[in-house]
Amino acid sequence: MQLFKDKIIELGKVYPGNVLKVDSFLNHQVDVILLGYLADELHKMYKEMGITKILTIETSGIMLACLTAQKFEVPMLFAKKARTSNLSEEVYSAPVFSYTHNREYTIIVDKNYLSKEDRVLLVDDFLANGCSLRGLWELVQKAGAVAVGAGVAIEKGFQGGGDMLRDMGLRVESMAIIESMDKDGILFRN
Ligand code: G4P
Repeated sequence: MQLFKDKIIELGKVYPGNVLKVDSFLNHQVDVILLGYLADELHKMYKEMGITKILTIETSGIMLACLTAQKFEVPMLFAKKARTSNLSEEVYSAPVFSYTHNREYTIIVDKNYLSKEDRVLLVDDFLANGCSLRGLWELVQKAGAVAVGAGVAIEKGFQGGGDMLRDMGLRVESMAIIESMDKDGILFRN
């Protein structure tokens, strides 16, 4: 999506360790008009697919997920990062390894909010190694629901998570796929 790529070029800052700072419009201060356009785009791509729920993971996926849910007129559900390893019977859970933070955590959703009738669109702000989306997908599978696909704002293509998920059979649509980036610039996949 050209408008979004232009914004990344204009305001994104590349930090050491392959980190892209987009705090000014995506995941600290939030440009809700811009995110609304991304949500429109996801709606266009998936509107014929009978989506019944938008699923994301706390924290910064929630904004795009909310706006997307509004377009589809379905609920938004966000997986929580479990604070305790003592999980109740009432939740579906999945492990997620974060390469960025170099630690594993567990994500959970209440079983009441995901059922085998659901057709789920997974949404997140960033897709890097793909572990978050894979964890969300596992929650959907545990509920016997269908993961119709994923919608992502920024995919860091060079980290391989998006292509791994596509190879595993998940439809993944990203509004901008970064092929490479360094202090001199950002290159997008066409
Ligand atoms: P993965 O989920 O695709 O495997 O990626 P990874 O574990 O490496 O990413 C973990 C966290 O880092 C996620 O947020 C993700 O959104 C974020 N992230 C990954 N790469 C970048 C980047 O280049 N820039 C920025 N700004 N964020 C990035 P999180 O830790 O779960 O935190 P939250 O902010 O959603 O609460």
